[in-house]
Amino acid sequence: MDKAYKIAVIPGDGTGPEVAREGLKVLEAVSKKYNFKYQTKIFDFGGERYLKTGKTVEDIDIEELKQYSAIYLGAIGHPDVKPGILETGILLKIRFSLDQYINLRPVKLYNAAFCPLKDKKAEDVDFVVVRENSEGLYKGMGEFKDKGSKDEVAIQISYNTRMGVERCIRYAFQYCRERNKHKRLTLCGKTNVLTYAWDLWQRTFDEVAREFPDIKTAYAHVDATTMWFVKNPEWFDVIVTDNMFGDIITDLGAMIQGGMGIAAGGNINPAGVSMFEPIGGSAPKYTGKNTINPLAAICALSMMLEALGEKMAAEAVENSVIKVVQSKLKSLGAGKMGYSTSQAGDLVVKNL
Ligand code: IPM
Ligand code: MN
Repeated sequence: MDKAYKIAVIPGDGTGPEVAREGLKVLEAVSKKYNFKYQTKIFDFGGERYLKTGKTVEDIDIEELKQYSAIYLGAIGHPDVKPGILETGILLKIRFSLDQYINLRPVKLYNAAFCPLKDKKAEDVDFVVVRENSEGLYKGMGEFKDKGSKDEVAIQISYNTRMGVERCIRYAFQYCRERNKHKRLTLCGKTNVLTYAWDLWQRTFDEVAREFPDIKTAYAHVDATTMWFVKNPEWFDVIVTDNMFGDIITDLGAMIQGGMGIAAGGNINPAGVSMFEPIGGSAPKYTGKNTINPLAAICALSMMLEALGEKMAAEAVENSVIKVVQSKLKSLGAGKMGYSTSQAGDLVVKNL
């Protein structure tokens, strides 16, 4: 008997279930074609469940998720739940508890027609952001002093450990080597102002770089990085950065690759259970309309297959997405594709 992958599916909120459904449709088709077995279990974590039960993700849920080969997530975020509760209680809880310390976000333009940048060809936008996913400002450390008073102070700490920074940087070097493209790794930081955190990052980067003499290194401040994304995205191959900067620059990255409809990411624990998701969020205003673009979720599926070791299946899914983006869709935006959500999923299946 071949081994069967155990996939935990979290459709989540808003358009999450609609896009996850298309991803699972593609998974079913590609598993037949490439002959692997899998089982899924649906987990109902999300806003609706929280509103009914007051529960997000508990420790016992984490223990269960540890039994899976991977997690496939639609989206988290509900208009009736105060911001922060679901994000911290579900998304960050899973990222942190499963030690998914890398957030891997490819920025790849499949069709220049969908790029808002002038005069850029598809091959000009093709890089990967390795975002640290377990520390920094996301650690949730800080305090209020004299809350509510005129003298109030709010402190939010960026917490960076040598271990956390080093494992992220080493992963990025390794990834850059395996990607085997320009073999150039750019550290994106703010050494000119944030002189504790980025001193540690820079020192660690320089030290780890010695283990990778085949990789060229570069440094860019985060503000300049956003400028280069627009001006000269072709300069980038792999970028490594902290949690907060990585969050911000990858939304811009998503835009230059054609928008949230196509941007996918992986929350990776290289030795554990990883989680794959479209990075766009729950898009409440498109919920239930069958108009949201499922390709980001399908690209997340491709990343999941790659991580599971199903390289041919992963490539087949990506190539099919490329065909659909190059020859079928009118736009990557919700409601403008010229196809419904489910039709777009069908097109990917057909082009496999
Ligand atoms: C992302 C999202 C999350 C983040 C939110 C929803 C907590 O913006 O995955 O980029 O900030 O990491
Ligand atoms: Mn984000």
